[in-house]
Amino acid sequence: MKHIDKGIFGPWAVITGASSGIGKEFARQLAASGINLILVARRLSLLEEIGEALAKDYTIAYRAIALDLSQEGFLEKLTAATHDLDIGLVVSNAGAANPGLFLSSDPDMMHKTVRLSVLAHLDLAHHFGAKLVARKRGGIILLSGMGASQGVPYMANDSATRAYVLTLGETLHSELKQHHVHVTVLLPSPTYTPLFEQIGFDASSAPLRPMTTEQCVSEGLTALCDNRPSHVAGALYRMMNRLTPHSLFREMNGRMLHKVVMQKQRGAIT
Ligand SMILES: NC(=O)c1ccc[n+]([C@@H]2O[C@H](COP(=O)([O-])OP(=O)(O)OC[C@H]3O[C@@H](n4cnc5c(N)ncnc54)[C@H](OP(=O)(O)O)[C@@H]3O)[C@@H](O)[C@H]2O)c1
Repeated sequence: MKHIDKGIFGPWAVITGASSGIGKEFARQLAASGINLILVARRLSLLEEIGEALAKDYTIAYRAIALDLSQEGFLEKLTAATHDLDIGLVVSNAGAANPGLFLSSDPDMMHKTVRLSVLAHLDLAHHFGAKLVARKRGGIILLSGMGASQGVPYMANDSATRAYVLTLGETLHSELKQHHVHVTVLLPSPTYTPLFEQIGFDASSAPLRPMTTEQCVSEGLTALCDNRPSHVAGALYRMMNRLTPHSLFREMNGRMLHKVVMQKQRGAIT
């Protein structure tokens, strides 16, 4: 678990996608640093449950806000619900994955993905970035994913959104560092969460074991404190990301995803 300075990144943090997986673990590690939480996702009952437990365990305050980040107008609702709070950190984490053949994918679903995985990051970084610059300290963590630089066949739209987030975050990192605002893009390598299971990967036959949310988040918070522009979680994946030629990386992931997509299609037919 990584502890961070609540004088810089507190007293309040916004976490999107806090009802599950990596976002839920961000909530736990930030609460352990004594930072109050604004928990955002669609499932309010889960957010309330998580907030209540963390408030009890770490004596922090929380607000649970039910929002669909793929809907227009989410930012107005979020700002109205948080305008009275001094926010020092934004973890823009909510995301989804929809592997499949690009040409068979529903364009409406792909547009929704772009609203969630591109526009929501953009709006959050723009709105809270200005506030953090005005207070001259704080941070933003944007969740991208491995494959952001190389692309992942059978997740064409998803991996394209990750490329956007990587570029947005790395460039903002340079723009905001003079204002003492840290911006870090976290690229999780495969991490055990409901999303990992939903994609349909067989963890037991993966070339490397998926990592825990605890390790992924603790690496992300360390990278934020060090003010790194981006960080691939997991040492082996980091090395692989650096050393593997893009074409080979794409080919390997494409083969793995093709198998998953075909298995899902067969499952849907039988
Ligand atoms: N796990 C991995 O291996 C992996 C790898 C690469 C990148 N990532 C990225 O890491 C981030 C977290 O993923 P995870 O693995 O922790 O997934 P997860 O356990 O499925 O959690 C996803 C979170 O996003 C929220 N969310 C989804 N759609 C939303 C919407 N329209 N509006 C508001 N909230 C929404 C979900 O909450 P509700 O359903 O309650 O709304 C949930 O809290 C994602 O951006 C994902 O792309 C994960």
